[in-house]
Order: sequence, then structure tokens, then C-alpha cells
Amino acid sequence: MDMCKDLYQSLQVLESEDKPLSRLERLKAMNGPLLSWYEKHARILPWREKREAYGVWISEIMLQQTRVEAVKPYFNRFLEELPQVEDLAQVEEERLLKLWEGLGYYNRARNLKKTAQIVVKEYGGKLPASYDELIKLPGIGSYTAGAIASIAYQIPVPAVDGNVLRVVSRVLAVRDDILKQSVKRGIENDLRLTMPKDSASSFNQGLIEIGAMVCVPNGPPKCTECPLESICLARKEGLLGVIPYKAPKKPRRMEERTVLLIEAEGKIAIKKRSSDGLLASLYEFPNFEGIWKEEDVIEKVSQWSGDTVCVEEAGKAKHIFSHVEWHMTGYRVQVKTIPPVFLAVEKEEIFEKYPLPNAFCAYTKLIRGES
Ligand code: ADE
Repeated sequence: MDMCKDLYQSLQVLESEDKPLSRLERLKAMNGPLLSWYEKHARILPWREKREAYGVWISEIMLQQTRVEAVKPYFNRFLEELPQVEDLAQVEEERLLKLWEGLGYYNRARNLKKTAQIVVKEYGGKLPASYDELIKLPGIGSYTAGAIASIAYQIPVPAVDGNVLRVVSRVLAVRDDILKQSVKRGIENDLRLTMPKDSASSFNQGLIEIGAMVCVPNGPPKCTECPLESICLARKEGLLGVIPYKAPKKPRRMEERTVLLIEAEGKIAIKKRSSDGLLASLYEFPNFEGIWKEEDVIEKVSQWSGDTVCVEEAGKAKHIFSHVEWHMTGYRVQVKTIPPVFLAVEKEEIFEKYPLPNAFCAYTKLIRGES
């Protein structure tokens, strides 16, 4: 039997029916098994190779709301093109958004640039090695500050994201809504007291890893593979089906939109979105509220240019944002010249130059000839 199993058994002995572990004792009991498990099971990931602050920061921002597998190519390309904080501080917004295209939540990219500029100006180009300084920077909240401080600088502060909240709320059998700030703060404060002071990076990443690989977000937890099985109160009390608890969210608003792929002589019409609100400053195909019929499209396009040649259906597509769902109806429209209200760009440029959100990917594929 290996050392981990020995440790779990001693913990089972430690917790008896008449003297259950306190909350802090239970959190402290995670340290040993968690660190041994992480040493054996840590995945090899590009941002774990160097562990310098810039790469840790970029990866952690990308990993918010986005899966590890999806982030990998973005991370590598980003660091190749913008290897230093100074490069990020100076990059043109349009190029930055193009590098971010497809990751969504584009304010994350804008905040990266703002923070890079502050870091260059006020911290000599090096992210501060202080949780309190990090958390003041745009786009850096308690999770990211904790992740950078612990992973890059070995500062013993917790990094509590959704993965960690799921694992810890189960270990402690927290029945309260894990989306409440007070629940997160409580867990952060307690982990700060109990986490191992000399292994902050492995401890935080180990918790994240268990949340990603074992105590998984979708589907039942793989408790028999979990180093925390014997100390997990939700497991002991049969509460795995109800913890973590999240209060139901407001349902998303549905929006019907009609998308026009207006083409002329190898060019296509796009326009820039306004600088605030959803998908701010990104580019888009002309699109309008409602489900238009073919004759509505002909009428509108001939108002703009007077020369509609041909309209054909381009199919339906759906895109889910956090608060709204777009249900799109597309049309391909051939004209002699692109109406001047739009930007007429070479088709290649929508792949290489202009940042177009993923919401339109069904139609960009069509233009590329992929579907
Ligand atoms: N998700 C968030 N941060 C992560 C990290 N450092 N490694 C793997 N998955 C993560």
C-alpha cells in the first residue's frame, strides 16, 4: 500500500463519530494527501513549464470561462507574439482582439493591456510580487491575484476559483450558495490559515487539478480516485448530489437576429460594433433584429445599393452568451458593389486581420467554404 493510502487511513482514525473534525482541522487535513496526489498526477501544461509571472497571469486570465484544451493554442500563440509585458503594453487593440478571437469575454483582453501598461509604468515591467498590489490591477480579482502570487512567487495565499469552490464546498459540506461572495470569502480566509506555507503553488494547483480531473464540474465525482475521499464530509453524509449548491440564475434572454453575408467580387461586407456593450469594438457581418424573409432582405439591400443580384438562405445558427442567446437566420447576398455603409474587405482579411466573434463562426465557415 502506498504512502497516500496510509495517510488516508490515519485520517479516518483521526475522525471519530463523537469527535468530528472542526472546519479548520478538516481543511488542514487536506494538505498532505493533496500535495502527494498533485506530485503524481499534475498534467503537463504549457503554462506550467516556466512558472514566471507573465505567463501565469496570461494563462489564468485565459482559463477563466475557458477549458484547458481550448486555451493551449491561444496561450502558445499569444506568448509567441507578445513574449514580454512591454509587447502587450504596446500592442494595437485590433491585433490584441484578433489574438483573443474565439475566447470570448473580450474585456479580459482589454484589461490585460491596461494592466500591462501599468506594470511597465509603475512596476518596471515586472508584475508585483504582492497579493495586495496584484489585486489592485485591472482584471485581477482575488482568484487571479492568488494564482499569480502563489504559482509565480510562492506566496502562501489561496486561489479560489469555481473548481476550488466545488472541491472545498464538498469537503466541508457547505450547503450555502457557492456563488455568494460571503461563501467564497469564508473559504479564502480559512484556506489562508490552513494551507501549507511552503508549498502554496502545488497546493493551489492541486486543488484546481482535483476540481478539473476528479471532482469534475459535469457529471458525478470520481471519489475512488480522490485523495480527499476520506475527509470529504459531503461524501460521508451522502450530499454529493446537492453540493455544490448554486441558486438558479435568471433565464437567458432569447434574441432572433438576421445575418447578411453581402458579397461582391471576392469582397464581403462587415462593420465595427460600437465601443461599448456586448462584443464591443469587434467586427461583425451586418445583422438585424428579428427573422427576416427573403423579400425583406431584397428590399433592405436594394435600399442601400439598388443592385441586388441574388439572395439565398445561409442557414440557421445559435450562439449562447452569458446573459443572452442569439438565434440567427442567415442569407448570402450577391451584389455588384458592397453598399458604402459597410466596410468592404477581402474575404481573407476576415480570417487574418479583423477580429470577428465566435458568434458568427457558422457563417465564417460558410465563407471559407467549410460547410
Ligand atoms: N484552471 C484555472 N487555472 C488553472 C491552472 N493553473 N491549471 C489548470 N487548470 C486551470
